[in-house]
Formats: sequence, C-alpha cells, structure tokens
Amino acid sequence: MKEPRVTGLRSIEYNVPDLSKTSRFYEQCWGLKKISEIGSKHFFRASGSEHHIVVIHQGEKANVKTINFAAPDKKMVNALHNKLKGLGIKIDADPAVIEKPGGGYGFGFTDRDGIHYGISSDVSTHSDASMESDRPFKLSHVVLNSTKVEDQTKFFRDILGFRVSDRTERMNFIRCSSDHHSVAFAHSEGPSLNHAAFELPNFDALMCGSGRMKQKGFPVQWGVGRHGPGNNVFGYFFEPNGMVVEYTAEVEQVDDNTYKTGTPEEWAQRVKGPDRWGFADPPSPLLRQCMGGNPQAPNLENF
Ligand SMILES: [Fe+2]
Repeated sequence: MKEPRVTGLRSIEYNVPDLSKTSRFYEQCWGLKKISEIGSKHFFRASGSEHHIVVIHQGEKANVKTINFAAPDKKMVNALHNKLKGLGIKIDADPAVIEKPGGGYGFGFTDRDGIHYGISSDVSTHSDASMESDRPFKLSHVVLNSTKVEDQTKFFRDILGFRVSDRTERMNFIRCSSDHHSVAFAHSEGPSLNHAAFELPNFDALMCGSGRMKQKGFPVQWGVGRHGPGNNVFGYFFEPNGMVVEYTAEVEQVDDNTYKTGTPEEWAQRVKGPDRWGFADPPSPLLRQCMGGNPQAPNLENF
C-alpha cells in the first residue's frame, strides 16, 4: 500500500454562540444551503458535490470544533488511524460507520495543538453539483494559528501525507491535493482558528458574492486582492460571531513533480506584502484580533 495520506479537505465544524443568526448568515449571505438540522447542529452544503462543507454547533464560545479531511477508501482510513495510534496521537473516535448526515466511514483524532480532526471515506456526494455565478462550490482551505508552526507542518507532512507548498515569514502553506494549500499554519499566539476560505468558480463570481455580502450588511474587511503564495484572489469578511471567512478564487494548481517549495527569503523578494496588486489596504487591528483567535461579534442589530 502507498504511504497513508489524506486527499482533500471536506468540511469545517464551528461552535457558535448565536446559532440562528449564523444559520441565516450561511444561507442568505454566504451562499450555502442548509441540508440538515439535527438538534443544535446545522449542516450546510456548497454547490459542489461534497455532502456538506460547514457544520455549526451551539456553543458558548465561537471557535473551530473539528476539521474534516477525505481519504480515498476504508483501507486508507484504517491505515491513517493505525499510524496515528501507533505514534501515541490522541484518538477521539475509532474507525466506524459515521452516523451523521452524509454517512461514510471514519475516525477522529486530536493533534498536539489540541485541534480536533476527522478523516473519512465513502461519504455520500451530491449528483447535482454545479458552478454558480456567485456561490462557493467548496471549502478551499483552513488557516490555524500556532506557536509551533514547524512542528505542526512536520506532523501534517510526515503523518498525514501533506506536501509543503511554500513557507513565508508569516505562514507555512501545505497541500493534500492539487490545490496549492488546503491548510496553512500562521506563526501566532495559538492554537486557534485564523480563518476558513471558500472557493468560488472565478474572479467575477467572487466579486458577485462579495457584492451580495456588502448588500446584506457584511462588507469586505480585507481585499479584494491577490495573495502571493497560491496566487488566489481573496476577500475577507466577518461572520456573525466575529470569526473570519474568506471568499477565494483562482487557487493555483500544483504538480507534485515540478513544484518547488518557496522559502521566506524567496517570497520576500517575489511579492511585496500580502496583495500582489497593492490594492487591498492592510487588515485592520480588529480583523487581526479576530484572525488571531479572539473573535469579536460585529454589531448586527438589523440582521
Ligand atoms: Fe486564506
């Protein structure tokens, strides 16, 4: 068998203090569709085939609950579980049939930063996947803050089979598919969620989605711009609990055989600042605070 590895990012699960506002936000503003509601858990899909890409849970504090990755089959799920267990990593749930919307077969574990993950195969997909002119079609990437970025990168590379795409002074970008990054670790106080990004079909769709967000009372907080590593177009927003969500498009596709991992020194030479266009103003202190893992709910009296 090939070296065990995950092959994609499926979904992110959040704890949110305001379940009903958050649910309304994802449906009416962010462009997802609610496909299931079980007690205080709401499941949302994008326009792509993945069964669901966001789950919100009622919780006291706004934070990330679980990040879910895909494996190609049960054998690979079991192989990854055995590898993690053998290394003494905390297993949250042993491999089993998943009794949740979408089903499948998977297990859960906690990394050394205390972040929870699921790895699953055989999850149901939607047969009506489409690319819409103003809606996300998938979860693109998740950025986590850590004081141990190199340790986390090594863990994801050596144990979960990720490749390192680029290192900058601020972040390490790692991939588990042809997308330039599905996860990044930011050098920061942590562990916490920095932001999650959702991919739209193209630049025009990103602008249409951003326009809808503005009209609904959620103006862009950073962007629109184009990042250096990943070459992706970006626009960052607050969700109702103050966590940061990103619309992204045109994410660079990477060939494992030819891509050369960039160093902080190279990126400092190649691109000045986080926006290649020089159009986006720097993030505000409030946005930085929320990306630093201390979300502050925006004032949404009329929402
Ligand atoms: Fe991002």
